[in-house]
Amino acid sequence: MLHTSPFAVAFLGAIAAFAAAAPARAAIVEEVPYVTTPGNVTAAMLDLAGVKAGDHVIDLGSGDGRIVIAAARRGATGLGVDNDPGLVAESIANARRAGVADRARFLEQDLFTTDLSPATVVTMYLLPEVNLRLRPAILGLRPGTRVVSHDWDMGDWKPDRSVTVAVPEKKLGLEKSSRVFLWIVPARVEGLWCGRAGNRRATLRLGQAFQAVRGELREGGSAPESVTGRLDGATLAMAGGGQLAFAGANARATGRLAAYDWRRADGEACPAP
Ligand SMILES: C[S@@+](CC[C@H](N)C(=O)[O-])C[C@H]1O[C@@H](n2cnc3c(N)ncnc32)[C@H](O)[C@@H]1O
Repeated sequence: MLHTSPFAVAFLGAIAAFAAAAPARAAIVEEVPYVTTPGNVTAAMLDLAGVKAGDHVIDLGSGDGRIVIAAARRGATGLGVDNDPGLVAESIANARRAGVADRARFLEQDLFTTDLSPATVVTMYLLPEVNLRLRPAILGLRPGTRVVSHDWDMGDWKPDRSVTVAVPEKKLGLEKSSRVFLWIVPARVEGLWCGRAGNRRATLRLGQAFQAVRGELREGGSAPESVTGRLDGATLAMAGGGQLAFAGANARATGRLAAYDWRRADGEACPAP
């Protein structure tokens, strides 16, 4: 059973109110109601994700298109998907009016079946339960993909950064502020890595919980040593210094492990020298 915060209760309460006020749209908003992100929160989301030219932003449940349009104004390209055809039409008109129709696309589409792989940034203002349903797909994205969510977190996948933005006019929830969370999709580094430097050998066995990495390093015949570190996308910063930059089955180290060429083990053990 998922924990539902007082914010979620208030947000869900809005569904009933909205459905009563606009019965024609009630079926469409079954999962997530249409509530817009204020302009200053939209700016905070894009700032936190560092959106700039060259980024491709996908907004899941794009409403009137404001997040994608604001991203396009920063020079990025974007796609907004919403299952409400009226909102999609409104977004297309808004993008045209804003002069960014060439960079901001909108599709009537279910957010759960949307291909997220082209995104460098994913934005969401959904619900806690919906974020958790999307989490496996998000964790499968290219390491380094940035994900920002307005108000709702992703359970035990703790954000890399978060900010609170004052929203005096906020109608939902008890606090007159919004929270904005940023996650950077971590590389999957769990498993055995083999280091080779001439005829010297080292092994690194890593375990991983999202960005947090723990493991055991063995260099030559020396005693095993505990290592910990934190992933920022595909780069592991090791406690005590040095980094490992992962690229598929290879990793390049700086610091004390820099002498070795690192490769993921093919099987259960590293090859003998
Ligand atoms: C809280 S609003 C956020 C709108 C916009 N992203 C913003 O922040 O201003 C959520 C949006 O998700 C849309 N939505 C809900 N369920 C959806 C689904 N399964 N697929 C696509 N869009 C959905 C709703 O129509 C609504 O526009």
